[in-house]
Amino acid sequence: MGEVSFYKTSYRTHMCGLLAESDVGTAVTVCGWVSARRDLGGVLFLHLRDRTGIIQVVANAESNAGVFESADKARNEYVLRVEGEVIMRSLETVNEAIPTGTIEIYASSITILDTSLTPPIYVDDDDTANESLRLEYRFLDLRKPGMQSKLMLRSQMARLTRDYFSDNGFIEIETPYMTKPTPEGARDFLVPSRMQKGSFFALAQSPQLFKQTLMVAGLDRYFQIARCFRDEDLRVDRQPEFTQIDIEMSFVDENDVIAINEPFIRELFRQGAGFEVGEIPRMAYTEAMERFGSDKPDLRFGLELVDLTDIVANSSFNVYANAAKTGSVRALCAKGANSILSRRDLDSLVEFVKPYGAKGLAWFQVEEDEVKSPVSKFLTENEMQAILQRTGAEPSDIIFTVADSDSIVFASLGALRLKLANALNLYEGAERYKLVWITDFPMFEYDEKEDRWDAMHHPFTSPKDECMQYLKSDPSKVFAKAYDIVANGVEIGGGSIRIHSKSVQNEVFSAIGLSEDEASEKFGFLLNALQYGAPPHGGIAYGFDRVIMILAETENIREVIAFPKTQNHACPFTKAPAPADELALSELAIELKPQEI
Ligand code: AMO
Ligand code: AMP
Repeated sequence: MGEVSFYKTSYRTHMCGLLAESDVGTAVTVCGWVSARRDLGGVLFLHLRDRTGIIQVVANAESNAGVFESADKARNEYVLRVEGEVIMRSLETVNEAIPTGTIEIYASSITILDTSLTPPIYVDDDDTANESLRLEYRFLDLRKPGMQSKLMLRSQMARLTRDYFSDNGFIEIETPYMTKPTPEGARDFLVPSRMQKGSFFALAQSPQLFKQTLMVAGLDRYFQIARCFRDEDLRVDRQPEFTQIDIEMSFVDENDVIAINEPFIRELFRQGAGFEVGEIPRMAYTEAMERFGSDKPDLRFGLELVDLTDIVANSSFNVYANAAKTGSVRALCAKGANSILSRRDLDSLVEFVKPYGAKGLAWFQVEEDEVKSPVSKFLTENEMQAILQRTGAEPSDIIFTVADSDSIVFASLGALRLKLANALNLYEGAERYKLVWITDFPMFEYDEKEDRWDAMHHPFTSPKDECMQYLKSDPSKVFAKAYDIVANGVEIGGGSIRIHSKSVQNEVFSAIGLSEDEASEKFGFLLNALQYGAPPHGGIAYGFDRVIMILAETENIREVIAFPKTQNHACPFTKAPAPADELALSELAIELKPQEI
């Protein structure tokens, strides 16, 4: 087997999982971990595992007492070196469950290279240990074939990335991790400087400003697989430390960036998941919000939002009439939900939408001869009929409505849509992957808490040419040259064309309430660079962990990261973070407040 020759070392000749019937009759030496042990009295069967798979080893007391003795001592997760001959198994002992199931090694020597304590988790893909134990014993967890294959997929995709972009004229350049705060909107992780006491580095939230500077420097077409650091609350698809495939190009518009990236995305899905993505559709932000209540719509199923505002504008149900004036009233029609969702489920859905700001969730259970709803008494027959018609509701469907400001309606119905998709099994039978580019994002979003406009993507994104006129007068009318790539409802990447003129950059800063002094203090280095011949430029960054998560079809980002952090930003394996010692702190001129120790 030529392909395995590079695994050959002074310890072994072959890999366990790569042995095949063509090796029958060959003397081989393999190394690995004991994954199972069966004693048939006088004959011992061991399963030996390495990263390529499992091979069965036979130790026979009659033919070789020494080998049997070693095999007898072996326990799960011991490390063994086994010499022997590859033989065919007898028909009745063939194991269909493993690729090497028709062969085994008849051992002539077994060496125990290391013993193991009894593992606290099962090194098996079926293991049900809780995640914190798995993370504490990550070295055992990562021995599971499923975990190993995800990390191998990650490695392959990183290689594909390097090949693709290098082949297309991109230069791989490293940018600093220790830097000034970068403006991706999250909290920074700070690193105190010993040389300049009282000063701090921020760990880069992204290479954004450096990659733009590289474009000013004339290093057209940059890429990097870069670690990014953001001190934000975790979700299943977020980590405080994550990896981006970061890209920037000069003399491009949105279509140029998308054109170079689409074949890359297709290659990722082709090689990483055996899936043909085809042409990726584009959808404007506004359409995505109106149809799916989300700028990262999951297009694997329908269940689209329906606008009822005009129908209920004059309703005697004040909740509807009021919302129709300042926001909207929208609905989801859940097909066949009546037989699936109990009254208790409906009550729990009312609770479910509350964190998204919805003050209520009015539902209509459509039956053959009546519509049951807590609000039907407020609606006229005409209104009711119009609602049924607009939503296309039929007997056994349930219509859910939220009336509020647009942003609350979208957030709550967008989330409810996903929740219902799960409850109604809409993922079943759906296509495996649905990708979409979301384009035409608003440049700004209003930050209610801070009472000011903020950049929706980041403030270095270029407004659309035709919107420049509104920068000062009405930021709500400004759209951006920004785009996101979404797969199965997960934002796997996002980018934009950047501002390359200092004056426009200053105008955008001023629109988000950043004075010229503040802007120059924070980003003076970029503003300065923009004065020395900045080319039009733009790019994109993919969340590499999220890409792998999607390709590996797992819903938890921690499953595709070797040593991830938990919900409260801890590493159960190393027990980081940990208190710093006194000396280190005093060298940094840092004194802790007693209550925070
Ligand atoms: P953005 O902030 O959208 O853009 O990040 C790009 C992509 O990175 C992924 N991502 C994350 N993945 C895991 N954990 C996180 N905490 C996390 N945060 C973001 C997402 C996201 O789409 N500099 C710009 C890119 C650009 O404009 O070129 C940026 O960082 O998949
Ligand atoms: P209430 O008048 O608060 O008792 O609400 C009557 C019904 O209307 C309940 O089923 C509520 O869940 C629903 N409801 C209340 N506020 C809203 C809202 N903003 N949008 C949709 N339904 C609502």
